[in-house]
Amino acid sequence: MRSSLLRLKMRLRPVLLTLTLTVSVAYYVYIPLPASIQEPWRLMLVAAAFRTSMHLASLRDWLGCDGYFKSVRWPPESFDGSGKVGDSSESGGGVVPGVKVSDITFAGIPVRVYEPPAGGEGHLRRGLMYFYGGDWALGGTERRSSDALSRTVSDELNTVVVSVVYRLYPEVHFPVPYLDCLAAAKHFLSPELLAKYAIDPERVAVSGASTGGNLAAAVAQEISNDDTVSVKFSIQALIYPALQTLDFNTPSYLQNQGIPVLYRPLMVRFWLRYLGADLSLQPQLLVNNHSSSHHSAVSPELRARTDWTVLLPPKHKRNHRPLVVGRGSPGLVKEVPGLLDARASPLLAGPEVLAKCPRTYILTCEHDVLRDDGLMYARRLQDAGVTVTNDHHEDGFHGCFSFTVWPVEFDVGRRLVRGYLNWLQNNL
Ligand SMILES: *[C@@H]1O[C@H](CO)[C@@H](O)[C@H](O)[C@H]1NC(C)=O
Repeated sequence: MRSSLLRLKMRLRPVLLTLTLTVSVAYYVYIPLPASIQEPWRLMLVAAAFRTSMHLASLRDWLGCDGYFKSVRWPPESFDGSGKVGDSSESGGGVVPGVKVSDITFAGIPVRVYEPPAGGEGHLRRGLMYFYGGDWALGGTERRSSDALSRTVSDELNTVVVSVVYRLYPEVHFPVPYLDCLAAAKHFLSPELLAKYAIDPERVAVSGASTGGNLAAAVAQEISNDDTVSVKFSIQALIYPALQTLDFNTPSYLQNQGIPVLYRPLMVRFWLRYLGADLSLQPQLLVNNHSSSHHSAVSPELRARTDWTVLLPPKHKRNHRPLVVGRGSPGLVKEVPGLLDARASPLLAGPEVLAKCPRTYILTCEHDVLRDDGLMYARRLQDAGVTVTNDHHEDGFHGCFSFTVWPVEFDVGRRLVRGYLNWLQNNL
């Protein structure tokens, strides 16, 4: 009797161990997600991988090893991607044969140029300047996907694509990344350079995703309003851009605060880093203490430019209420002047600036804290007389536009890229 019990215990032990392990892994991975997100388990796994890498990074920082950011960023030298969007192979498999890639500099800024296979002989090609995302710091997470995207755009749309390797946090903060991008853009638009690459000056785009979309919008505003620049961008294509810092309580910030991989507190941290501010300010920004109503620096005019109660369609307002605090922390915008700078928050630019912006494509995702930044910008550009296409995806989430390369591949990501390519094909 005793011995058979013992045997049973011995046999059960591995079963129990496996069960415990499975439950803890599931507990670590599981996040409740809205039903309209497809492939939810895949997204949970990606989120768990992100979480783990962040924990490992903090551990490494805590141990005093070399900075995490340096280890995962985008060094063009070690660029290995050569696939196209939708290839299931890792690097090397889906080579786009004709696309010529060169790592050079534009006005001192490192860039990677992708030239399409069709020769420039006699006919002109399109041009597109691309700023990758990655939260002004982690160029690395975007590395392979933006490389794949650039090759695809170059090959399929007969376009000279220029991906700008602007400097990143923690070495620099605003306005340096913006100024890097602006300098590269001005160089790209110079008649001599366009002639050298056989680019049609009437067909040059600026584009970027997430924080790269922020830079694209800011650079487009500056170029459009600078009389000394003769060739302008003919279109801007912004993929779920980050555009404002006055209100971190928009309906999309609240609705999607827990949706991977861009959580609400994380986006606020990215802004603080970008603006060179102390990360301890995060709790104040989360409750909109920096943009309180008793604030002389935040004029009613400025506030109106990010007023979602007016700028969003009813469908997205739902039953949310605006959060405007009375007193707040009036010293904050003095401490962090970037908070009110339209070069960091393009949504703060006046209507006269927006009116000069080129034809616009804005991609927004329902499950994204930045959704309302994009929707408000679309509305304000339209009000200023600009032609805008808002490509809104009910099943999209932040980051999915980059999730097109193995092993992080989503159907929704591939669909978004397809839509973007089609729009460029018809409008650039
Ligand atoms: C926001 O400002 C109010 C009023 O000054 C202050 O009492 C509160 O502690 C602040 N909140 C945070 C999170 O700092």
